[in-house]
Amino acid sequence: MLVFASETSCDETSICLMENENIMEHITFSQEIHKKHGGVVPELASRSHLEKIQIMTNELFSKEKIDPNEIDVFSATCGPGLIGSLLVGTTFTKSLAISFQKPFIPINHLEGHILSTSFNNNIKFPSLIVLLTGGHTQVYLMKNENHIELLGQSIDDAIGEAFDKTAKLIGLSYPGGAKIEIEAQGGDENRFILPKALVKEKNFDFSFSGIKTHVNILTKKNKIDKKFIKDLSACFQKNITEMLIEKLERGLKRLELDKQYVKSISVVGGVSNNKYIKNKIENFFVNKNIEIYYPVKEMMTDNAAMIAWACFKNYNINKHDIYFKPQPKLSVNNKLN
Ligand code: KG4
Ligand code: ZN
Repeated sequence: MLVFASETSCDETSICLMENENIMEHITFSQEIHKKHGGVVPELASRSHLEKIQIMTNELFSKEKIDPNEIDVFSATCGPGLIGSLLVGTTFTKSLAISFQKPFIPINHLEGHILSTSFNNNIKFPSLIVLLTGGHTQVYLMKNENHIELLGQSIDDAIGEAFDKTAKLIGLSYPGGAKIEIEAQGGDENRFILPKALVKEKNFDFSFSGIKTHVNILTKKNKIDKKFIKDLSACFQKNITEMLIEKLERGLKRLELDKQYVKSISVVGGVSNNKYIKNKIENFFVNKNIEIYYPVKEMMTDNAAMIAWACFKNYNINKHDIYFKPQPKLSVNNKLN
């Protein structure tokens, strides 16, 4: 089966051709235009998707010598995300489906992240999905491939957002998550004490906005020089990682009280690129009989490969819907099919 997928929920224009569980070709263009604004400007994002998506698709077809008539199904991210950006990707992909008289499958962006680890792992159920992106911090319980339940989420900023806002406060350009990880190397992670909200509660709810306020105060009290940037990045990264692990520990204890014994944890989304967080999670869960999974590198940050994979998984369950309208606040249904 040959799948074409597009992803345009935020500031990445991404397209992918997947043939029978293999990524045949995958191209992602990360919009640089937002850097000078310190965050994504929705109108600029949709215009940039519009400029790029057709050119990229033509390149993809000619590079792989694909006649679009050979494609079996077309799919696109239909939410959640920026409405203008979603409209560009879905309208473009739907028109391809109509032109070549093939089915169109709408894909939930979060479902793309959630299913991403099943591309390279045999998931052991029940499985916990820890979704760490720039827009969401959520924990789901996946009882089997088709049943998923939201257990908790951030009540304010998403974890990636906390990275990006902290980075901005100390003068690192957008998106600052990966830059914080680099600066943190060799920094003194014990120099500043940062707050930890909601960590004592036995659930999977998070709160990250207080750290940003505290960082803001520190930037007013200290000279923002090289050492400050390194030390603050290290303290921030350590603090947020500890918050995450403490919450996972407490939430899992709560699940055990309900006789739910998790066999694996998938850490997905852009923040799963962070090696410090990965190492700490792995060290914490070593000898606890819980397997830890990550997506392949190209399915971590926003990408169309995970959308193609989710489409592949949904193909046989009749999810075709050319009339599906993009939804900025689309959530994950309890049952994936
Ligand atoms: O999943 P993603 O690409 O987009 C959303 O769905 O939001 O996640 C993007 C987020 C950004 O906030 C970015 O700063 C963060 O992931 N990120 C990182 C790292 N790489 C990307 N955060 C911390 N450390 C990293 N290495
Ligand atoms: Zn994402």
